[in-house]
Amino acid sequence: MFGVIFAQNSEMVKTRTPESTLAINTEIVLPNDTNTLGNLMGGKLLHWMDVIAAISAHRLCKRVCVTASVNNVTFPKPIKLGDIVTLRSKVSRSFSSSMEIYIDVYVEDRSTSEQLKVNEAIYTFVAVDQLGNPISVPAIEPVTEEEKARFDGALRRKQLSLILAGKMKPSDATELKALFEG
Ligand SMILES: CC(C)(COP(=O)(O)OP(=O)(O)OC[C@H]1O[C@@H](n2cnc3c(N)ncnc32)[C@H](O)[C@@H]1OP(=O)(O)O)[C@@H](O)C(=O)NCCC(=O)NCCS
Repeated sequence: MFGVIFAQNSEMVKTRTPESTLAINTEIVLPNDTNTLGNLMGGKLLHWMDVIAAISAHRLCKRVCVTASVNNVTFPKPIKLGDIVTLRSKVSRSFSSSMEIYIDVYVEDRSTSEQLKVNEAIYTFVAVDQLGNPISVPAIEPVTEEEKARFDGALRRKQLSLILAGKMKPSDATELKALFEG
């Protein structure tokens, strides 16, 4: 019992980093995943992203997490039948009950095995209790330059997402406005 309490306490004081929420998934594009041109369907990729982002969110807060919004998804290059696709996701910043998750998508070069980045997406997840009510999540501390840049931009993106969802007045988006005024 003491061990359990000790383990819970040490979990509570442990600093969470984006790396501690890293989730990786590798898939091969199969015929059922493609459209009639033999390209990976966008909806299939979004599904893979949603699942891996939920895992990263869970690794931060250890609670049930639901998708609140999906932002910044573009499909600049087709991913082809037979391609080996790797998704890497990390929590970039947590707020009160919500977490921003960054997902980077790579396709493996078939001759060199080099990982070529083809896509990225930003999801927002919210931790909820058994009744679906938002609950608080732990803070996260970025370490690398990329993690710090993503952490710094997350509040702007949250405000933009809330404006687009009709949940925030543009006049209240102080962080976002500063981007244009600065
Ligand atoms: C996500 C959900 C729990 C939010 O509940 P809510 O009653 O709107 O709660 P709040 O307004 O207090 O928002 C909770 C948090 O989510 C954030 N949030 C809500 N909508 C958001 C959006 N569109 N973009 C970014 N953040 C959003 C809020 O800013 C708040 O963050 P904070 O606590 O970290 O400051 C609720 O809308 C829900 O259950 N949605 C369905 C989720 C689901 O089923 N997803 C699967 C898709 S089918």
